[in-house]
Amino acid sequence: MADEEDALETPLNAALYKPPTLLPIARLKDVLLYTIETYPLTIIVGETGSGKTTQIPQFLYKSGWTADGTSIAITQPRRVAVTTVAARVAHEMGCELGQEVGYSIRFDDVTSEKTRIKFLTDGMLLREILVDPLLKRYSVIMVDEAHERSLSSDILLGLLTKIMKKRHDLRVVVSSATLDAEHFLEFFTADVDEKIHGKKKEEYGYVIGIEGRMHHVDLHYLIEPTPDYLERTVETILEIHTSEPDGDILVFLTGRDEIETTIDMIQDRLGDLDSKFRNIQSLPLYAGLSSDQQMYVFEPAPEKTRKVIISTNIAEASVTIDGIVYVIDCGFVKLRSYDPTSGIERLSIAPISKASAIQRAGRAGRTRPGKCYRLYTEEDYEDLEDVTPPEIQRSNLAPVFLQLFNLGITNVVRFPYVSNPPSKLATRALELLYALGALDDLARITKPLGIRMAELPLEPMLAKALLNATSFNCLSEMLSIAAMMTLQGTTFVLPEGEKKQADSAKRKFAVDEGDHITLFNVYDAFIGPGRKDPKWCRDNYLNFKALEKAVSVRKQLARHLDHLGIQESAFSGSDVRRVGGVSSLELTERIQRCLTTGFFAHAARMKPDGSFTTVDGGTTLWAHPSSLFFHRKADWVIYTEILESKDKIFIRDITSIDKDWLLEYAPEYYKVKKR
Ligand code: CDP
Ligand code: MG
Repeated sequence: MADEEDALETPLNAALYKPPTLLPIARLKDVLLYTIETYPLTIIVGETGSGKTTQIPQFLYKSGWTADGTSIAITQPRRVAVTTVAARVAHEMGCELGQEVGYSIRFDDVTSEKTRIKFLTDGMLLREILVDPLLKRYSVIMVDEAHERSLSSDILLGLLTKIMKKRHDLRVVVSSATLDAEHFLEFFTADVDEKIHGKKKEEYGYVIGIEGRMHHVDLHYLIEPTPDYLERTVETILEIHTSEPDGDILVFLTGRDEIETTIDMIQDRLGDLDSKFRNIQSLPLYAGLSSDQQMYVFEPAPEKTRKVIISTNIAEASVTIDGIVYVIDCGFVKLRSYDPTSGIERLSIAPISKASAIQRAGRAGRTRPGKCYRLYTEEDYEDLEDVTPPEIQRSNLAPVFLQLFNLGITNVVRFPYVSNPPSKLATRALELLYALGALDDLARITKPLGIRMAELPLEPMLAKALLNATSFNCLSEMLSIAAMMTLQGTTFVLPEGEKKQADSAKRKFAVDEGDHITLFNVYDAFIGPGRKDPKWCRDNYLNFKALEKAVSVRKQLARHLDHLGIQESAFSGSDVRRVGGVSSLELTERIQRCLTTGFFAHAARMKPDGSFTTVDGGTTLWAHPSSLFFHRKADWVIYTEILESKDKIFIRDITSIDKDWLLEYAPEYYKVKKR
């Protein structure tokens, strides 16, 4: 124990890692290797921070599991976990990231021929099954953080039960931070038949528990509920800082906006404190950070400085930061939820579960006794649900269904799900895929459209719009728009106090039709007059890094289309002339129509007060302040991004359309809806 604290507090040692031999998993190395050798399935349960993610792949690598040229895959539900853990393991192994240790997330593949340990999102591994149906390139697949029950990891587990029947040499490791091991074991072994699986049921799977090494964590509740948990967060941070002994603070909030606001609030209040208390270093941790920024949180703070990490749910289980003694838990989390009636999938702020609250508190007791401040009352805690429902029960299932269809699974309802999706969600997903033209009347995937949609690394609506772009003669424009859409609102920068200048810079790119064509104009200017220059970006209040990323994403999308036999060069320029039809329309209208063919299900109409209502009239939406339609009037629109604050659903990336196009491009869908 002393070693750990020294490493934290002595700047000279700061750069040294706690030797992996001290991690709880080290003691289990032999048992673990024996089990993985013997049983097709190993389930490993252990406290977060015990070394599962960073050490198991190295044990396997060093004991020869990749000697024949195969690799080890480790999946994570979160991109941030993939990149930070890969960087850590590469460092521990003394190799450059992308060599023996690499990672792969959407639009960012850092692997090479030499890569033997590959971290990837569960969604990316699902995609790999398309090209490598038995995952032959891997000897071991570790499905990490299985307790999170992310949609893709659940589907992956279902597919693995099928793959394991055909590959008796494959080893699957399922790792989980909670005690739901029996559930997973039952799921994998229930139907084991020696003739098919090559092993008897009792020899098929084995559970290993890592003994926890948790210190006591003092729980503090509020006496009265707080009306403003951000304010309360800041007060609590400063209280701890000014009255408690050394130790870093980890704060759980729900998202980027809250995190940035809190960091600003801390900064503002520091001035009021005695100068000896100004030694706080607050660092954000959320998904949209650049990889450099993500790595900061792992570095020890400068001497005599208290580090405060303000994080989303990421730090609950997928990443572990050493040195945390105090945890502040706001009691909420952003959860995916899908309303099958309105077709709106959103990230809403919801109360956490008891399991999450316990997990969050546990982050304080890893290296020594700690304290957890719950910004809610003890009664509120008692009212929390025991566990969060799995994502498959609250998501838009169209994307995964399309993947399953493309894998040849024709009856998605009878798929081996870890937990069954509600039938309403399943029906809605099939309806949407049908309306998009990905399925035919007999619920078979269409060729080529459905298959192509499944193969593009984009959600089905955007995939459809992009694939339709050739018929609207706007492929080049739609490629740029699709690439810009993946930036998710990071295109423009709004420095404090320069709002006016930023707004007027933005107006140069803006068009009446809305945000998508505006994004296109930005892209076009960046690669044209802007010459991909950082200074030009600064002058125009644009995010250089984000735009660079868009250029890379666009290239990758163009390559994907090329594989599908759709060449950008063959479809752009004035030499493509069609007789009559859409080509005689203005470019902007062609883009608007093309977007409608994909996003018809996201149509809304502006009301006189400037808010929007969905087609069924059931939901009110508001233009996000970053959308052009925050100020401008429109009638009908389609939107491609939904964001949510505590009391409002915002839409962003909005384009005006003509109502008639909805019936023109989605007649069945709107016929059904009008009933
Ligand atoms: O997967 P599990 O939660 O069991 O633990 P892990 O992620 O393998 O972490 C083991 C140790 O590595 C912990 O002490 C972490 O703090 C440390 N670690 C780190 O310092 N930096 C990272 N990027 C990842 C892990
Ligand atoms: Mg882990």
